[in-house]
Amino acid sequence: MPHAPATPRPAPTTARARGDTPIADLTQLIYASQPFGFSESNLNAILMDSRRMNARDDITGALVCRHDIYLQLLEGPTDAVMAAYARINRDDRHLDIRQLVSRPIETRMFGAWAMLHDPADTLILTQDDIAGGVLDRLSQAQIVAMFETVARDAAPEHGSLHP
Ligand SMILES: Cc1cc2nc3c(=O)[nH]c(=O)nc-3n(C[C@H](O)[C@H](O)[C@H](O)COP(=O)(O)O)c2cc1C
Repeated sequence: MPHAPATPRPAPTTARARGDTPIADLTQLIYASQPFGFSESNLNAILMDSRRMNARDDITGALVCRHDIYLQLLEGPTDAVMAAYARINRDDRHLDIRQLVSRPIETRMFGAWAMLHDPADTLILTQDDIAGGVLDRLSQAQIVAMFETVARDAAPEHGSLHP
């Protein structure tokens, strides 16, 4: 019977290249929340905070926002994403924060954006959908697919890492 390997196996969340070499430890996290005190200036302040911190932390992503919803995708090194999400959870500019997706990824969806701002033009969910709790009934794949639409339609001037 073969012996167990002497060194512990890396955490299963580590993205792997062919062979067994870790290539990066990237996590994608998506949450939804309800804006509190939504206004243009509030949103601009959030975007400024996000882009400054995310450029520092090697995080990229997108924030889909409308007066009734924030839907945010964060992607980057697992520790950095978890630390950002912990700060975001403590922020009183939104309420009812619900994690929808957290998964290891190999490639970023929003690699060129410290935080893409999407004014929810591409969001197919209506205000009634949101109010009726549709987000809790969508599958993780459907939620990820919504962000794939955002990434496909994105223009580089919206919060690019390289303005
Ligand atoms: C909707 C929303 C999205 C945010 N997105 C990010 C983000 O992507 N990255 C980030 O570092 N902070 C983000 N923030 C800001 C954090 O909540 C927090 O204010 C910021 O990270 C500074 O943290 P500190 O005040 O504990 O230093 C967001 C806040 C809100 C309300």
